[in-house]
Amino acid sequence: MYPLQRNRRLKTNEAIRSLVRETTITPNDFIVPMFVVEGKNVKEEIASMPNYFRYSLDYLEKEVKTLYKLGLKAILLFVKVPENLKDNSGSEALNPDGLMQRAIKTVKNACPEMLVMTDVALDPYSSYGHDGIVYEGRILNDETNAVLAEMSLSHAQSGADFVAPSDMMDGRIFEIRSLLEDEGFHNTGIMSYSAKYASAFYGPFRDALDSAPKDIQDIPKDKKTYQIDPANRTDAIKKTLLDIEEGADIVMVKPGLCYLDIVRELKDRVTTPIAVYQVSGEYAMLKAAAEKGWLDHDNVMLEQTLAIKRAGANLIASYFAKDVVKLL
Ligand code: PBG
Repeated sequence: MYPLQRNRRLKTNEAIRSLVRETTITPNDFIVPMFVVEGKNVKEEIASMPNYFRYSLDYLEKEVKTLYKLGLKAILLFVKVPENLKDNSGSEALNPDGLMQRAIKTVKNACPEMLVMTDVALDPYSSYGHDGIVYEGRILNDETNAVLAEMSLSHAQSGADFVAPSDMMDGRIFEIRSLLEDEGFHNTGIMSYSAKYASAFYGPFRDALDSAPKDIQDIPKDKKTYQIDPANRTDAIKKTLLDIEEGADIVMVKPGLCYLDIVRELKDRVTTPIAVYQVSGEYAMLKAAAEKGWLDHDNVMLEQTLAIKRAGANLIASYFAKDVVKLL
């Protein structure tokens, strides 16, 4: 009660503010998503993601070394697959000499200490732009799981430390874990996109990989039969608890800022580390507003990062990772 309690006392100067500060940001908080393309000497800016690039393997190697020097210790790899290699079942994903497999080896050679996480889903490989196999207008679940498990094994064989299934099929964590165990990859981890919403914030990412669902007759135009309805909480909690039972080492909430209530609820409920994916649309929004001079880029970026961590994230996959650590 006033004047016995005055909240302003603990805000008097930076010294006391820093002593009572509850959340801090360090390079250990981040996973850096990276987009890889075929070719040599390629560093292409993604139109809807200013200052974010697709790299060919030679540039990937350089960039990974730079990131490691900045203190960043984990990357999450995505590949842009040439159109002529796409089909309905994502067969190119299993090619031992595919772009992803070569990218993993390139990074592990250049910087063995860098933790390599890989995206596991069919969409970059799918002629229909879906995360699973399409049949008669539906996305097949169990048939897709079989491919996802083989894909994960292929990444593990190439040297991936963690596979990160982003597809949202049911039971895929169990299928992936089982195959990895059978093949002796006991230490290959699984970061599951467990609470992944059917969000409109993925647009720029789909531009980056040219992976949006195709506008073809009888093919679903969205991912609402597998990703979570933004109106719902319980599905996100249920799916995450199931993924943990099935063997996920890290679970994820995605996107970030609109879903921090889910992050907090999970944090209060599970002991598994929680990752948040601050997605492409969140990145694009701030870049656009900053370009117009409407928002202070760096301060908004830091505030958003703090908010994600304060909500309970142990890890943040973010396109801002490099920008943030440069400011620390
Ligand atoms: C697809 C995938 C998506 C993202 C990561 N993996 C998009 C989607 O589900 O369509 C989005 C990431 C981002 O927007 O930054 N498996």
